[in-house]
Amino acid sequence: MFGNTFGRLFRITTCGESYAGGFRKDLPIPEQLYGGLLAIIDGVPAGIKLTADMVQHELDKRKPGQTPLDSPRLEKDKVFIFSGVMEDQMTTGAPVGVVIPNNDIQDIHIEQYGSYKDEMRPGHAEYGFFKKYGEYADWVGAGRASGRETASRVAGGAVAKAILDKKGIDVIAYTIESNGIKAKGPVSYKTAKENYRKNAINCPDLDAAVKMEEDIMHIKEIGDTAAGVVELIIKNVPSGLGEPVFDKISAMLAHGLCSIGAIKGIEFGSGFAHASMLGSESNDEAYVDKESGRVRFKTNHSGGILGGISNGEEIRIKCVVKATPTISTPQETVNVTEMKDIILEPITRRDPSLLPRIYPVIEAMARCVILDLLYMAEGYWKVEGIDKKWLDI
Ligand SMILES: Cc1cc2nc3c(=O)[nH]c(=O)nc-3n(C[C@H](O)[C@H](O)[C@H](O)COP(=O)(O)O)c2cc1C
Repeated sequence: MFGNTFGRLFRITTCGESYAGGFRKDLPIPEQLYGGLLAIIDGVPAGIKLTADMVQHELDKRKPGQTPLDSPRLEKDKVFIFSGVMEDQMTTGAPVGVVIPNNDIQDIHIEQYGSYKDEMRPGHAEYGFFKKYGEYADWVGAGRASGRETASRVAGGAVAKAILDKKGIDVIAYTIESNGIKAKGPVSYKTAKENYRKNAINCPDLDAAVKMEEDIMHIKEIGDTAAGVVELIIKNVPSGLGEPVFDKISAMLAHGLCSIGAIKGIEFGSGFAHASMLGSESNDEAYVDKESGRVRFKTNHSGGILGGISNGEEIRIKCVVKATPTISTPQETVNVTEMKDIILEPITRRDPSLLPRIYPVIEAMARCVILDLLYMAEGYWKVEGIDKKWLDI
């Protein structure tokens, strides 16, 4: 398996599966480490305050079992930092290592997965896994394709946050649509901040949130699952991040965000609406802002990115999140060892909607990308040099 490291200069490497180690009882793994996810975060400067509580704060946004909208799993996702930080809670410049064990490994759930291990769940990752790893594919809780894998990314993103916070760069994601029910928009950064996590679906339109939650509870009762849209704002990004050709900031963000399971599409700024806009409508007109003396843009259809480089406006992205693939209603699929058509009705635990749990993962990946590009831009300016007047426009 390749591709378990993300980033160039600020890099996260993750490993661990949904239930890793937990069912291998004959191996001498201490029980406290069952199901351990690991993240190694490289490129952390020395002298940054980093505590397990800071990482835990981000992980707690993502952990299941917090509201009726979540999967009934009771994974505490308690994080332990095992390297890169001294007793004074300051980073040393060495890679930061974290482990997140799974405290909720129960034989009954492993047996449930075992009962359909050769049967592909429609919409889930199993077909590709059988094609690549054959009979060795991890069949418990979807292995690396599990939503649980994203806990390691959230830990990496929490480390990036500790660094970005010092620069005043803020990242926030929230639900704007669930199963066709839309929040009143556009949502301003101020409203997003004020109403952040005020409800289980994390929708800043509090009235729409009530409707969304009722709707998801109904969908859950009938054994089905729902989809939606999460919006992401990255605030106070300096202009000049991103490289003009392959490493455009949009391309790097797309890589990070589309690497999250269940994200099926993203839009930058006005996104697909550009298709019906004239140039005179979609161009963001520039002006010299009297207050800051800097170039600003009257509108932000571009979502803060021009030519693959940040322009100093808010970066705005919408992420389409598909419905959770595991559903209780029977669907047609295939048993791959017997090569025969079957009807599958999975009984394992799942989230009726991924919206309440995916937004911290979106925030984490965005933070990793922005920090990586910040290092690249700052490094370039240090080596290549540029007349300061251009940094101030
Ligand atoms: C935070 C998170 C939690 C998830 N929880 C579940 C789940 O409980 N059940 C499920 O079937 N899929 C879940 N998924 C989605 C699957 O991981 C994903 O749909 C699957 O890997 C197939 O990938 P694709 O949808 O990108 O094609 C979750 C994804 C994320 C990001």
